Amino acid sequence: RNHKRHTTCRNDITMLNAPLLALFESLIPSDEEKLKQKQLLTLLENLVRKEWPNARLFLYGSCANSFGFPKSDVDVCLQMDLGDIEKSEVLLKLAKIFESDNLQNVQALTRARVPIVKLMDPVTGISCDICINNVLAVVNTKLLHDYARIDVRLRQLAFIVKHWAKSRGVNVTYQGTLSSYAYVLMCIHFLQQRRPSILPCLQRMQVTYYITVEDVECAYFDQVEKLQNFGAQNRESVAQLVWGFFHYWAYCHDYANDVISVRTGSMISKRGKDWTRRVGNDRHLICIEDPFEVSHDLGRVVDKHSIRVLREEFERAAEIMQYDPNPCVSLFEPY
Ligand code: CTP
Ligand code: MG
Repeated sequence: RNHKRHTTCRNDITMLNAPLLALFESLIPSDEEKLKQKQLLTLLENLVRKEWPNARLFLYGSCANSFGFPKSDVDVCLQMDLGDIEKSEVLLKLAKIFESDNLQNVQALTRARVPIVKLMDPVTGISCDICINNVLAVVNTKLLHDYARIDVRLRQLAFIVKHWAKSRGVNVTYQGTLSSYAYVLMCIHFLQQRRPSILPCLQRMQVTYYITVEDVECAYFDQVEKLQNFGAQNRESVAQLVWGFFHYWAYCHDYANDVISVRTGSMISKRGKDWTRRVGNDRHLICIEDPFEVSHDLGRVVDKHSIRVLREEFERAAEIMQYDPNPCVSLFEPY
């Protein structure tokens, strides 16, 4: 691959700033939508507490990490002391409770990698997944939310990348492409890498937030209100960043050797993590380290076929940003 091929642009990238910002604004959920989500959470909380008074419900995922679209599903984590009760038993019980309260499409998926109950609230039309004691997901949701509060360009970039990934069909983990969570981590890492950097590495700073979850230590600086001017030295606009992001993943990333790591704020080596060979179904063709579960590669879902699809999509996006007469339309063309 010729890394130098596209370093000069024909499009004036700054012209794309206004339309991309307008797109970002249009993707932000309204207060009304946020309120509906809160109401659903309260409803569920009341139902759950009747059966298990000490249980607590937490929102996680896109409705709580500030990277959610208006129509995103609500991800809920039920935290409770299970004692000797099986998770699957609780899920089946939950499903019964929800069904008798007229919630729709109730389904207990007890054999999934992350077992859940699915439901749809007919009043608000919101769909919801409920898992049990998935505390790490709640904690990584807080990390993403805290990063988003440091520099508005993270949300701008990530919304556009997520919108692109959904439009182009490369946000489907069971088809071997990446999760929304993975894309947001890619955006955070990309902004940590800019010079001057736009985001710090919170896990390398003084620890102000600490929790241990299933032997995993989660520690980082969470007083992000003190970092409001962190990225001010870097004046890059969202259009430059979107272009830079696609250009990086199309032409610059070393897929054979590098792992992107939000935890360290830098690139680390596949060799060091022993991610150089296929183990079981984990092929490590694109490596994205989870910030807390460091043995977890968010790219492990990607296979021989889907890595090609992904890289072609990154290249297509980078080309469009530079040469297409109507980039803001072509970029998001349904596949
Ligand atoms: N998650 C995780 N590990 C993964 C995938 C997801 O811990 N391999 C957790 C993260 O807390 C993430 C949440 O599950 O925020 C939801 O994941 P996902 O559906 O990928 O992201 P959302 O932000 O909910 O995006 P979407 O708007 O597409 O629903
Ligand atoms: Mg979600």
